[in-house]
Amino acid sequence: MLFFLYLCDMKQIAPSVLSADFAHLEDEINRINRSDADLLHVDVMDGTFVPNISFGFPVMEALRKYSTKPLDVHLMIVHPEKYVERFCDAGAWSVGFHLEAVDDPEPILQLIRNKGVRTCLTINPDIDVKRLVPYLDKVDMVLLMSVFAGFGGQKFIPETMDKIRFIHREIQDRGLHTLIEIDGGVNIANAAELFEAGADILVAGSAVFHAEDPIETIRQMKQ
Ligand code: DX5
Ligand code: ZN
Repeated sequence: MLFFLYLCDMKQIAPSVLSADFAHLEDEINRINRSDADLLHVDVMDGTFVPNISFGFPVMEALRKYSTKPLDVHLMIVHPEKYVERFCDAGAWSVGFHLEAVDDPEPILQLIRNKGVRTCLTINPDIDVKRLVPYLDKVDMVLLMSVFAGFGGQKFIPETMDKIRFIHREIQDRGLHTLIEIDGGVNIANAAELFEAGADILVAGSAVFHAEDPIETIRQMKQ
C-alpha cells in the first residue's frame, strides 16, 4: 500500500546533498529525513567529465547510514561502466549517468538493472533532447540538466521548459511510465511550472540547503 502511495506521488523533490554543510552532514541529513522530500540526490563529480570534484564512496556510505530517503545517484564522470555496480552495492536507489559520456549506454544500463537498481540517463543542456528518445522505454527515468553539470547554485536555463514538454509528450504518446527528473536552478518560484510541464522529480540543492527553513521550502515546492 505504501509503495502504491509512493508511486502515486507525482510531485517528488530530491534535495541535492552537494549544497549541504559537510561539517554537519548528519544534522543536514536528519533534517531531510524529517521533511517531505522523496529522495536524496547524490552528485558524484570526477574533475574530468565536469570541471569540479565532489565526493565518492566514503560519503556515499555515510549517506546510506544516516538517510532514510532513497539515494538518487547522479554520476558526472567518464567511464561510468567502471563504477555503476559499486554505487548500486553502496545502496543507491537509482543510478544515472550522462549519455554524452559514453559510446553505448545499453550495456551500462544492463549492469545497473542486473543489480535491481533503477536506471537513469542524463543529458547536459547542450545535448539534443531527441537523443534520449530511443532509450525512453529502456530506462526508469531521464534527467534533463537545467544548468551545465558541475556546480550547484547556477541559474535555471529557461529553454529547459520546452524540452520537458517534448519528452513528456513522447512518454505519454508511447504509454510509458518513464519519470522525468530536472536538475539545476530549481527553486520555490519555478517548481510549480516545472511540474506543470511534466516533470516528476525536481532536484534542488541550494534552494533547499541554503534556505532558512529547508523543511518548509520542500513542502512549498511540492504544492
Ligand atoms: C549540478 C548538480 C546538481 C546541483 C543542483 O551539477 O547535478 O544536482 O547540486 O544544485 P542547485 O539546485 O543549487 O542548482
Ligand atoms: Zn545532480
